[in-house]
Amino acid sequence: MTNETIELLSSRELDKMRQAGCLAAQLLQHLEPMVKPGVTTLELNDEAERWTKAHGAKSAPLGYHGFPKSICTSVNEVVCHGIPSAKQILKDGDIINIDVTPLVDGYHGDTSKTFFVGTPSPKAKKLVDVTLECLKRGIAEVKPGARIGDIGAAIQEYAEAQGFSVVRNFTGHGVHRVFHAAPEIPHYGKRGTGKRLRAGMVFTIEPMINEGTWEVEVLDDGWTALTLDRKLSAQFEHTVAVTNSGVEILTVCGNW
Ligand code: MF3
Ligand code: CO
Ligand code: CO
Repeated sequence: MTNETIELLSSRELDKMRQAGCLAAQLLQHLEPMVKPGVTTLELNDEAERWTKAHGAKSAPLGYHGFPKSICTSVNEVVCHGIPSAKQILKDGDIINIDVTPLVDGYHGDTSKTFFVGTPSPKAKKLVDVTLECLKRGIAEVKPGARIGDIGAAIQEYAEAQGFSVVRNFTGHGVHRVFHAAPEIPHYGKRGTGKRLRAGMVFTIEPMINEGTWEVEVLDDGWTALTLDRKLSAQFEHTVAVTNSGVEILTVCGNW
């Protein structure tokens, strides 16, 4: 099987993905109350690592292509892949995306959420609200027979109508035993284009939406991606499965 082949998961594998997804959702929920002015992104990382181990799982980002920490913490103008640091102290008005991927019994649960630190500015609030709505609209396109391009089109139409832009350099991705697998899921595009979705496919949708330009720059650390114009960026991510009837969000627990 090549890297290009899109795997269709068995019901046994989907069950493993539900377990990993549930743990990922619980981890974000566990970290949320720590997101306050004065906390460092390293403290968030260290608690995520401790909690993940305590639940018998592994932090997939740690050591992944050399990534040095267990979670990604992307603050304000950081688009994605921010590296937790003891020097980075959160302050009132910041926005922070926390992206977690526990590896549970060989399967990855990949989810992220943008949180407000204290009280957000009106523009930050609007960006974060629009980004969450983009994720919801992308998920709503998922059903057997739909095209990958339908997902990106729904996201791009809404983001741009709200005056924001969609990051091109990073996409959603297939996810199962492999952290980043086929297919790529762009968050922009045209309806009716791209491969058809089939029941059993599992992938992430993780729109990164910018206040200004969609262009990004990667720092010399090789990871931190930030907006070229240093305006704000927000992101939400779920892992989803295509089902016979439509879509199942895997990075939730029960009714959460
Ligand atoms: N969780 C990220 C994603 O959504 C990937 C992080 S890779 C890392 O795909 F190496 F930066 F951790
Ligand atoms: Co992620
Ligand atoms: Co992902």
